[in-house]
Amino acid sequence: MTDHYAVIGNPINHSKSPLIHTEFARQTGQDIDYISRNIPLDDLASGLKQLQAEGFKGSNITVPFKEQAWQQVSDKSAHAQRAGAINTILFNDDGTLTGDNTDGIGLCRDLVNNHHIELKGKRLLLLGAGGAARGVIEPLLSYQPSSLFIANRTASKARDLCALFADFGNIDGGGYDALSGSFDVIINATAASLSGEVPPLPDNILNPNAVCYDMMYSDSDTAFITWAKQHNAAKAIDGLGMLVEQAAEAFRLWRGVQPKSDAVIMLIRQLQNS
Ligand code: ATR
Repeated sequence: MTDHYAVIGNPINHSKSPLIHTEFARQTGQDIDYISRNIPLDDLASGLKQLQAEGFKGSNITVPFKEQAWQQVSDKSAHAQRAGAINTILFNDDGTLTGDNTDGIGLCRDLVNNHHIELKGKRLLLLGAGGAARGVIEPLLSYQPSSLFIANRTASKARDLCALFADFGNIDGGGYDALSGSFDVIINATAASLSGEVPPLPDNILNPNAVCYDMMYSDSDTAFITWAKQHNAAKAIDGLGMLVEQAAEAFRLWRGVQPKSDAVIMLIRQLQNS
């Protein structure tokens, strides 16, 4: 019998998740169907109940519902609990929901496994302090960077996140005006790219071998990727690999099978260039 899964968001029409999970299912021989569903901005609870009533086994949660979903789901992994945002839900047979956040694992696997970027001992800068940023802080710190600075337009939100994750590593934060020195890896977790903007970064902020990573993925260069290229970053990487890797981890949580990401990343790149 086919098991049903969905990604919910608003807007959702350009989501690559149905393609990614359909490829994972084909690759691993799992009998699943995966759709995208747009739900009203103010009614995540009804959207989830509806999926449950229709017999869905699980759901991914995307913009702008990750923090709302965290409020709705009481049973969460310890990492998701701290992150304050979830992107993966399991609809259990007893009617309960379990929540997790696979964004951080997805980001780190793409950086470390796919792009061979060393995080240990490096000076990291995370731009943004919203739902997207929260999910990746603990996984990034688990690689023992020498420091992680969180810069955000609203400085107090960055400082709040530092306090929350202080036990996990050397973390500091503030507004963009508090940035000093240069960094080895800069990760953009702001929504600025959505409006074609780049946070106000000083020109001399990149170390000679610096890597810039935009958690956002778009078929053409985002504003941050363009900025990185203009500032001669050694690598400017978009969020496609993270998108596929977070999906792979969600698939593993649902199905107990680890799909291979590289073929799917390649397929989407080919479609992008065709
Ligand atoms: P998400 O779930 O995508 O993280 P969010 O919680 O609304 O969405 O957070 C958006 C993040 O992008 C925030 O860090 C926001 O900064 P503020 O906290 O100061 O609002 C940041 N952001 C959005 N537009 C931005 C812009 N044009 N320049 C810089 N930062 C921006």
